[in-house]
Amino acid sequence: MKFFLDTANLDQIQEGVQLGICEGVTTNPTLMARENISGNENLIEHYREISKRVKGEVSVEVMAEDYTSMVREAIDLSSIHSNIIIKIPCTKDGLNAIHTLTERGIRCNCTLIFSLSQAILAVKAGAAFISPFIGRLDDVGIDGVKILKDIVSAMRYYNSDAQVIAASIRNTRHIIGSIQAGTDIITSPLSVILSSLTHPLTDVGLKTFMEDAQKLK
Ligand code: E4P
Repeated sequence: MKFFLDTANLDQIQEGVQLGICEGVTTNPTLMARENISGNENLIEHYREISKRVKGEVSVEVMAEDYTSMVREAIDLSSIHSNIIIKIPCTKDGLNAIHTLTERGIRCNCTLIFSLSQAILAVKAGAAFISPFIGRLDDVGIDGVKILKDIVSAMRYYNSDAQVIAASIRNTRHIIGSIQAGTDIITSPLSVILSSLTHPLTDVGLKTFMEDAQKLK
C-alpha cells in the first residue's frame, strides 16, 4: 500500500518526500487554486515542479467537461512528465475520454467516484486508477469506508489491474479504514497523515523514557 499526498503545495510535498511518506501526489483544481496559481503556463510549470520532486505518479486533473476538450487537454498535460496521470471525472464524457486516452497509452485516474457501479464502469473504460471519495460520502451520511471496501473487494474478485486510490481523506479513522479495506493507495493531506502518527501512549511512554534517561547520565 502506498501513501500519496493530496496537495499541490511544494513545501508539503518536499516534507512528505523527506519523511518517506510521499510516494505520489494527487491534485485537483481546488488544490491548485489554493496555491494562487493562474494562467496555463504557470499551471504547467507548477505541475512540472511537483513531478520533479516525486518519484511516483502525479495526478493532474483536466478542467474541461466535454469529451473533445478533455482529450485535447489530457494529451497536453501528459507531455509534462512521464509520471503524470490524467484525472478525469466520472461522467459519460469522462468515460469516453478515458477510453480514448487509454488506447493512446495515456494512463487515467477516474475521479469523483461515489459508488461501486461508477468504479466498475470507470475500470471498464480503461482507468488505471479509480478514486472513491470517502470523506464526501461521509458528509452526506453514507459510510465512505464501506463503499471503499465494496470497491476494493470487487477489484480483487475480478482480478482487475486498476489501482484503488482512497481519496477525500479527513481523519485517522479514514486512514485505518482504508488500510483495512486493502486499498492500493491512500491519498491524504499531510496534516491528516501526521495526526495519524500521534498517539497519547507514545507521548506518555516517551516522557517516561526521557525522564529515566536523565537518571542514567
Ligand atoms: C483526490 O484525488 C481528491 O481530489 C481529493 O481527495 C478530494 O478531497 P476533498 O473531498 O477533501 O476535497
